[in-house]
Amino acid sequence: MLAASYIREGKLVAFPTETVYGLGANALDPDAVVKIFEMKERPAFDPLIIHIADIDDLKPLINSNDERIYKLAKKFWPGPLTMVLPKSNLVPDIVTSGLPTVGIRMPSNNIALELIWAAQRPIAAPSANKFGRVSPTTAQHVKKQLPNVDYILDGGPTTVGIESTIIQLTKNGFNILRNGVIVREDIEQVLPYFPGDNKDADVIAPGMVKSHYSPSKPLYIIGETNKVIEKSKAGLLSYSLQQVAGYKEVIQVSTNQNLKEYAVNLFAALHQLEDSDVDYIVAEPVPESGIGTAIMDRLRKAAYRFTY
Ligand code: TXA
Ligand code: MG
Repeated sequence: MLAASYIREGKLVAFPTETVYGLGANALDPDAVVKIFEMKERPAFDPLIIHIADIDDLKPLINSNDERIYKLAKKFWPGPLTMVLPKSNLVPDIVTSGLPTVGIRMPSNNIALELIWAAQRPIAAPSANKFGRVSPTTAQHVKKQLPNVDYILDGGPTTVGIESTIIQLTKNGFNILRNGVIVREDIEQVLPYFPGDNKDADVIAPGMVKSHYSPSKPLYIIGETNKVIEKSKAGLLSYSLQQVAGYKEVIQVSTNQNLKEYAVNLFAALHQLEDSDVDYIVAEPVPESGIGTAIMDRLRKAAYRFTY
């Protein structure tokens, strides 16, 4: 596999995961990892997630014998759950932005798993977009933002559509650092959730800045903006298919108000409207529970720099 030899040679390979496309490099090679930060124009304070293909790959990367880790891995891997864990000395500081912890996950995508297996290296990979911009769910989205990447593995559109849930284990339970399609209630089937533990967490995800996923055009959320919307100039991300008349463009992000499907289609819809001739984007809010929490989190961050 050519892409795997590229990884071993220290080059960058974009690859599909079930969530979004990643921009990958050999996680154990600091010179390769630095290229990720350069290509994404990502600040050095924002740590990367390491992707593994086998549970046996986990142990060398971490400095913990906590059995809860393996319980969670057994239930959710391969899949869209990232665990932030104490790191071993094998993990270069540049990967973790100098933090003593490292985010690790096993993606549920055969091309991603084959790449990691064939490279025989853990792969550090953030989403394959410019820092702060809309995440890619197709190879074309990657090409649009990162035309100079050494290799893009095209696996078609991703099947989950939003980034992995990130958790950190605490003394009595866990914290959620980023919401995703694996929701708190899912994790609670394995571990108790102790919100009071929040104070124990010494690190909040450093990349969890208020503005993120930002389209090149303004985005406003209905009910959360003072902007007077001129529908004839706007593209609508519709959830309910109510009150769609008058918009220049309407994207039905999901049929039958299905939040899972909404998550799959959200970033592609943002890419489509940023490439269309609407002046700005208007999003109808979705119910804020379950996967809806992760979706509203993405929409609010995407709208943040346009909100006043
Ligand atoms: O679904 C995903 O997680 C995708 C695919 C490619 O796997 N990756 C992804 O990576 O979303 P990225 O870099 O766009 O977002 C990862 C976030 C960072 O912004 C950072 O906040 C958090 O993970 N993170 C990584 N390591 C961390 C650590 N040691 N402590 C706290 N947060 C960490
Ligand atoms: Mg990202």
